[in-house]
Amino acid sequence: MLFKQQAWLRQKLLVLGSLAVGSLLYLVARVGSLDRLQPICPIEGRLGARGQAEFPLRALQFKRGLLHEFRKGNASKEQVRLHDLVQQLPKAIIIGVRKGGTRALLEMLNLHPAVVKASQEIHFFDNDENYAKGIEWYRKKMPFSYPQQITIEKSPAYFITEEVPERIYKMNSSIKLLIIVREPTTRAISDYTQVLEGKERKNKTYYKFEKLAIDPNTCEVNTKYKAVRTSIYTKHLERWLKYFPIEQFHIVDGDRLIMEPLPELQLVEKFLNLPPRISQYNLYFNATRGFYCLRFNIIFNKCLAGSKGRIHPEVDPSVITKLRKFFHPFNQKFYQITGRTLNWP
Ligand code: A3P
Repeated sequence: MLFKQQAWLRQKLLVLGSLAVGSLLYLVARVGSLDRLQPICPIEGRLGARGQAEFPLRALQFKRGLLHEFRKGNASKEQVRLHDLVQQLPKAIIIGVRKGGTRALLEMLNLHPAVVKASQEIHFFDNDENYAKGIEWYRKKMPFSYPQQITIEKSPAYFITEEVPERIYKMNSSIKLLIIVREPTTRAISDYTQVLEGKERKNKTYYKFEKLAIDPNTCEVNTKYKAVRTSIYTKHLERWLKYFPIEQFHIVDGDRLIMEPLPELQLVEKFLNLPPRISQYNLYFNATRGFYCLRFNIIFNKCLAGSKGRIHPEVDPSVITKLRKFFHPFNQKFYQITGRTLNWP
């Protein structure tokens, strides 16, 4: 009997202990997030900061908390209104390129206190049905934010879809456009890998990459294959340049974002006229994932989903050489137009 009572007591103590540790961890997390509680500079110029008032991050943390409550249904619309939270159209869009590292870029930029990401790909400008719903529909898809913050959306299909540049121009002719690119052959293989995985999930067979990328009749690169066409970056960019000057674009080196993300992010902060706030503290290399992951504070960190960073199938080296040779002149033109040389083979 005595033994039973002792065991019961021990169990209770264990539960209470876990609760105490849990609460402590929560408090530490809150305090951890206070690390970043310093005023940030207002966002200048075309990003359209309203006024020059400083923007205390303490309030930002509070508002993020409030938003969270709002989504869970615990905060009223009135509370959100009282705190000036608004759904703003994006001031910058990651328009592509598919498999370039668009998700990593969006998530990493979201570490910046003045950036609020639209979590989902909205596909407003590339999908006729969505586009027909109008700009208010699009705005309502945006997350709540402070007026001084900027909203960023990413939909990689925008880069290659014919109608998109004109549609974005009509919404905001001075919008900032981010394009993240990777070495074109690697990107094409990554694109193929994603489709292959989808087929395998449905127990379907699929062609080998070599068969799709090289035309079996001519033995030349098959430009009808979408994964190849998407990697001809300059062709797509030229369509965009009919609407936007090159100064409105920023090219992110997706290969460098994998290996060394901070300098790439700092270039984006500069392009967006944001004060530098993302630091090495926010990014740590996770050896198990083989990628950089995100650290928000001493407790909260996250890596991208497992669908990012797939193992690519082996591809015949002669096909790789052929593709690299094919992309070479297009790459040169891309460097020339953008002013960013990426040293691709
Ligand atoms: P792979 O799966 O070919 O490795 P997107 O988000 O545009 O679909 O791009 C996916 C690619 O992002 C991945 O391609 C991966 O290499 C790259 N990437 C860049 N930084 C990453 C990170 N920190 N974690 C995971 N993947 C990252």
